[in-house]
Amino acid sequence: MENYDIYVEDRIEDETINIQFKDRDTIEIFLNKGSSFGSKHTTTLLAIESLKFLFQKDGQIVNSLDLGSGSGILSILIKKLGGRFVDSCEIDEFAKMESIKNFKSNINKDLDLPSFVEAPLLKIKQYNLIVANISGRFLPDNFPRISKIIKPNGYLIISGFNLNKEEKYVKLLKDLNCLMIHKFIKKPWISIIFKK
Ligand SMILES: C[S@@+](CC[C@H](N)C(=O)[O-])C[C@H]1O[C@@H](n2cnc3c(N)ncnc32)[C@H](O)[C@@H]1O
Repeated sequence: MENYDIYVEDRIEDETINIQFKDRDTIEIFLNKGSSFGSKHTTTLLAIESLKFLFQKDGQIVNSLDLGSGSGILSILIKKLGGRFVDSCEIDEFAKMESIKNFKSNINKDLDLPSFVEAPLLKIKQYNLIVANISGRFLPDNFPRISKIIKPNGYLIISGFNLNKEEKYVKLLKDLNCLMIHKFIKKPWISIIFKK
């Protein structure tokens, strides 16, 4: 379950990320200056596109897991898109602190803040949606565990890998009853949405 890749994306100033839609107001996400990953990298932007697509298709996503929250950007977006309960998970303590700071800067009521969870892949709690933007072997090595904690009819969004892995990942997840429903590509990166 460990992943030893180093994820850093320096933000030397506070930043506001504007997420635009055809048919609704822009969502703004404020990120405090810091160095956790998760603002303008293509893998993040593709995960954002996948979340936009999914919430437009199915606005009733009750509980979600942001696996590898980094700056917390995807957890915050899920909340702003209407996701009711969001669990976030992060192995890097420093990034976890930055996520919490960013949650507080974006979401007013304490009760509505995403909650941090430890080792969700070893637990039995299931989710309507899991989003994971993590590179390297982490995703394929953990597909069996990840698929187990997706509720029936729930969704998985993955990002953080190159197009040449698409066929392999689609096959591995198909064998775990998760079928690709959509993908977003910006070469050489891809993000894929699956439904269980
Ligand atoms: C590429 S960043 C993604 C950050 C953000 N979610 C985004 O989409 O921009 C991956 C994050 O996952 C974290 N991570 C890596 N392996 C992990 C694991 N096994 N469990 C939880 N977090 C992990 C890293 O520390 C890093 O912050």
